[in-house]
Amino acid sequence: MIFEGIEFPTPPPYKIKMIEYTNLPSLEERRQVLREAGYNVFNIPSEKIYIDLLTDSGTSAMSDLQWSALMRGDEAYASAKSFFHLKDAIQEIMGFNYVIPTHQGRAAEYLMFRALDLKPNEYALSNQFFDTTRANVEVLGATAVDLVNEDAYDVTKEVPFKGNIDLQKVEAFLSEHHERVKIIVLTITNNSGGGQPVSMENIRKLGELAHEFKVPYFLDAARFAENAYFIKMRENGYQDKTIKEIAREMFSYADGVLVSAKKDGLVNIGGFIALNDKDLYWKIRQLMVVTEGFPTYGGLAGRDLEALAQGLKEVLDERYLQSRVEQVAFLGKLLDKNGVPLLKPFGGHGIYLDGLRFVPHIPREQWPSQAVVCAIYEHSAIRTVEIGSLIFAKKDANGVWQWPKLDFIRLAIPRRVYTLDHMLYIAQSISDLYKQRENIKGLRMTFEPPVLRHFNALFEPVT
Ligand code: F0G
Repeated sequence: MIFEGIEFPTPPPYKIKMIEYTNLPSLEERRQVLREAGYNVFNIPSEKIYIDLLTDSGTSAMSDLQWSALMRGDEAYASAKSFFHLKDAIQEIMGFNYVIPTHQGRAAEYLMFRALDLKPNEYALSNQFFDTTRANVEVLGATAVDLVNEDAYDVTKEVPFKGNIDLQKVEAFLSEHHERVKIIVLTITNNSGGGQPVSMENIRKLGELAHEFKVPYFLDAARFAENAYFIKMRENGYQDKTIKEIAREMFSYADGVLVSAKKDGLVNIGGFIALNDKDLYWKIRQLMVVTEGFPTYGGLAGRDLEALAQGLKEVLDERYLQSRVEQVAFLGKLLDKNGVPLLKPFGGHGIYLDGLRFVPHIPREQWPSQAVVCAIYEHSAIRTVEIGSLIFAKKDANGVWQWPKLDFIRLAIPRRVYTLDHMLYIAQSISDLYKQRENIKGLRMTFEPPVLRHFNALFEPVT
């Protein structure tokens, strides 16, 4: 009864029809796997993983209705029935005039920034850009600016909408540079800052500012349903509204969305852009045929479009969202009770451990959070991911590292995949590791890729 006094999460509104076996490799094997992977968990073969918390992206379990929707996929090259099903589903929730499927979120980002013709000396603003979104701004030579509110950098401060953008900073920035700001992208929920929600008030007021300065305003809506659920739980005036009504209102303030459907779309692959601007829509249509495919399939099969159309309906189910968010919070509470340092409030799609407090003996140059990620795998065959220095640190003109304020180990919980007993195993294992944290050693980077470093970097332990 170590977890006495903790409230248990609401059970999900579904039961399990199919299972997939996993392996629990021995300690010796785990050590060898880590060595062979260059201490980068992206390189660990998934069959060597017992519980995979690398990401909540593309890892959802589909429902029986989604699997049967696959069979209805219309594989016509152009203007397939499945495209129109998806378009209807998106318009019903989001209300935009035009819908463009893409193979995943970053393809939507790339197309949007190309269509807007982002150039060096120009800016894109956000509460916090996700890493691929930032990379898609930066590869065009433009600058991605994060303007999240200051509370977001205070790991233990409990505020309801820690994902909010700082409207005063946005106004100041726009007053000075609005001719050179090409787009504002508000990330809901804010993944880089811990899966934290953005309030309706903030979404609306940012829209007012963007429109006053005539800057296109898009939501990075990968986790829009989780954001809507938090609004229902935490913001005055929304308790009696449905998730669908709340979502519809969120989207009503924006000019469009960039979406990785691999999260709240409840599918394994897919993304889309939806927007109102006709000219921009036609620019994207023309760009995308070169890389993504015809504008009614955008790199996806007809069956993928069907499964997504169904997933978007299912994700609005409030009982699902409640059990989802409560499951994540339950894991957070167990870890918290055992003293493991973590970000509060708990995020929508995962728990973010505070690497700097977990292993204060490891200097920043030795990638503390990545060291914990490796230690967690070695200890219990759980794969987590670093969301910190490895992703966000930059070198200044003299080659000196500039460290980000936040340095997390993210435990991203796949949707509808793991059960309460998995949460207990995770909490038990990480709490146990935390008790032996002095034994965790830092890492030296032996290969440093120039972009999106975390995917391909290699390390060795510091001896
Ligand atoms: N925007 C957000 C907020 C994201 O979290 C992601 C992906 C993307 C855009 C890009 O979408 O992967 O479909 O190309 N996040 C994943 C993660 C990779 O693990 O958090 P994508």
